[in-house]
Amino acid sequence: MSNLDESREKIGEIDKQIADLFEKRMDVVGVIAEYKREHDLRVEDVARERTLIRDNCAYIKNSAYKPYYTEFQNAVLDVSKAYQHRLLSGIRTPSGGENVAKTVISVKTALGGYDIIVERGSLNKADKYFDLKRKVLIVTDDGVPGEYAEALANLSEEALTLVIKAGEPSKNFDNYKRIIEALVGADFTRTDCIVAVGGGVVGDMAGFAAATYMRGIDFYNVPTTVLAQVDSSVGGKTAIDFCGYKNILGSFYPPKCVIVDTNTLKTLEKRQISNGLAESLKMAATCDEKLFSIFENDDPIERIDEIIIRSIGIKKSIVDADEHESGLRRVLNFGHTVGHAIESNCPELLHGECVGIGMLHMCSPQVKERIKSALNKLNLPTYAEVPFEKAQKAILHDKKTAGDKITTVFVDDIGSYRFLNEETKAFSDRIKREWNK
Ligand SMILES: NC(=O)c1ccc[n+]([C@@H]2O[C@H](COP(=O)([O-])OP(=O)(O)OC[C@H]3O[C@@H](n4cnc5c(N)ncnc54)[C@H](O)[C@@H]3O)[C@@H](O)[C@H]2O)c1
Repeated sequence: MSNLDESREKIGEIDKQIADLFEKRMDVVGVIAEYKREHDLRVEDVARERTLIRDNCAYIKNSAYKPYYTEFQNAVLDVSKAYQHRLLSGIRTPSGGENVAKTVISVKTALGGYDIIVERGSLNKADKYFDLKRKVLIVTDDGVPGEYAEALANLSEEALTLVIKAGEPSKNFDNYKRIIEALVGADFTRTDCIVAVGGGVVGDMAGFAAATYMRGIDFYNVPTTVLAQVDSSVGGKTAIDFCGYKNILGSFYPPKCVIVDTNTLKTLEKRQISNGLAESLKMAATCDEKLFSIFENDDPIERIDEIIIRSIGIKKSIVDADEHESGLRRVLNFGHTVGHAIESNCPELLHGECVGIGMLHMCSPQVKERIKSALNKLNLPTYAEVPFEKAQKAILHDKKTAGDKITTVFVDDIGSYRFLNEETKAFSDRIKREWNK
């Protein structure tokens, strides 16, 4: 037997022991999760994690191994926390009863981080999570039931509510100015705060106002559309549209805390629900085969809490690794290049609907079939009446086109992806061949 074979055999034995210990450890982690659920404790405990890593690393005698063991310990803790979050996730029962638990998803940022609380009924106890003992400007729109902003106002020490007209055209400079004027008019200081109650339009604009007023005041978000809950409220992007360009003025400005109360979805139109679920389906197709199988095999509406929690988890792990969109975060653009091209030619379609169609152009034939049937199930379109030449024009103006090359996301198998960096012409020819199929 060679040294290599012998070493591999030894590694195999050791791995078996590690697997055995891992199972034992996870059993105990499960008990801890149960305790945390009963006592309403957070999964994360930074101080304890630090002590644990330091103490465990002290067992390592060979100093050359210490940094590697620290890495290993960090990974073990990440796995434990992920498992605890899963055990504690608030999944609604199929009978439609209220969920029993809350899920806290902690997003890391350069400035520290923030929690996203997913909990039915949390809007009515928002003061548990937001510091509302100060001046609070609530920004909402006239399509969002007024009772949501009212619930927040009732919990605030001194609330002022600004209602803008619903819809993307409202995400403009004039409304941004109205928010700033309201803050100035009511003598808001740097210690006061803004709360957004509504979809991505309200969230993006209120966030941008919070980012810029007096160089930044506290921002809280209560997203009330599926799209805002799974996507726009995670990752700290804020913006308004200007001079005909979407999101041209904006900043990365993380909220202090986000409350996702899925009870608010009861009043949301079915079309808007599917529109948001298209973004979840996008995340599932690239990053989470299990989530994709929920879309395929179950009723997504029945399991919407779980879908939302898993989607936030995916987006969180991506923005944790790439807060300012310098690399990995581009995976979230799956379906967006073609999607934007359709969106700019079909104003009657919603963003998620266009992204859904866009995904069908960026995957292998077998994935295309699976995505298509998931879109059908959600009553989302799989085709748009746009001549290729018009779409091509929009693609060439896409911001992801760098010179004569274009970077897109391609899915060969559900749950995985690769970045494609192609000559724009090759990309365009490929899309053309598929356009009307
Ligand atoms: N910041 C980000 O990372 C990010 C990511 C994706 C999208 N976005 C932005 O999000 C915006 C789109 O967000 P959206 O899809 O939520 O649209 P939206 O904010 O326009 O909301 C859609 C509609 O739903 C209504 N509504 C909201 N909540 C409701 C509720 N609970 N019950 C009944 N009606 C309700 C609104 O009044 C509106 O008419 C775009 O401006 C987009 O640029 C931002």
